[in-house]
Amino acid sequence: MYPTPSVSAPGSKPVSVPGLRKMKQEGTPIVALTAYDASFAHVLDAAGVDVVLVGDSLGMVFQGHPNTLPVTVDDIVYHSRAVRRGLARALLMADMPFLSYATPEQALATAKRLLVDAEAGMVKLEGGQDCVLEVIRFLTEREVPVCAHLGLTPQSILRMGGFRVQGREEAAQKKMVEQAHAVVAAGAEALVLECVPATLAQQITQAIEIPTIGIGAGVHCDGQILVGYDALGITPGKRVRFTKDFLIETGSVEGAVQRYAADVRARRFPGPEHSF
Ligand code: KIV
Repeated sequence: MYPTPSVSAPGSKPVSVPGLRKMKQEGTPIVALTAYDASFAHVLDAAGVDVVLVGDSLGMVFQGHPNTLPVTVDDIVYHSRAVRRGLARALLMADMPFLSYATPEQALATAKRLLVDAEAGMVKLEGGQDCVLEVIRFLTEREVPVCAHLGLTPQSILRMGGFRVQGREEAAQKKMVEQAHAVVAAGAEALVLECVPATLAQQITQAIEIPTIGIGAGVHCDGQILVGYDALGITPGKRVRFTKDFLIETGSVEGAVQRYAADVRARRFPGPEHSF
């Protein structure tokens, strides 16, 4: 059993979607982590994590698949409902799985399950190409809060051919900046930037009014996110550059999450050694 959720920092008011934009305006870094169950969600919430994502990374770190493609809407609903029960303050964000938003109508049905059945406060979807922009517009016009996701988009793994840093070349950088503006114009309320050069993430962060949440995108994003298991150093295989084992430094799960949150808020994490 996990105890009744309590909140320690930085305040007890639940984090809202407009609250994220306010944090950007005030220069307060957004602290985000993934979780897939109630107990871990409770630890994150009690440590003052602002956004808890039920990411389709669960396909890899929870289910043991080599990529995120097999994750279903049912999986995300199941895990989001569990996580929801562990949260009192943090905003619950839920990932739209691969091919669950291939058309606007399908996206709306998926979003309805995540927001209504799973009580998520926001959905996240990957990409900035025209068909995804159409989906973002369709959802946001219908009051679905959307977080976009650019850079390394793991659902594109088959086409990308591997998990690689994106936006190294000038043309790709130009395209990503254009797509960042386009997701904002389509109504996105936040933008995850994954595995992009820190200078590019900084440029995008300064250019758009919605908050950017980086993972492997340098310290200048408006917030940071990690896969929860990566922050505890318990993901199998070689540690990837942009992650950090906070458990080894602190000796407890609670301590690790608190250290992560403090380091993000002080802009001590990510350091140059975690960035591209
Ligand atoms: O699925 C996930 O956990 C994510 C984060 C890595 C941003 O999308």
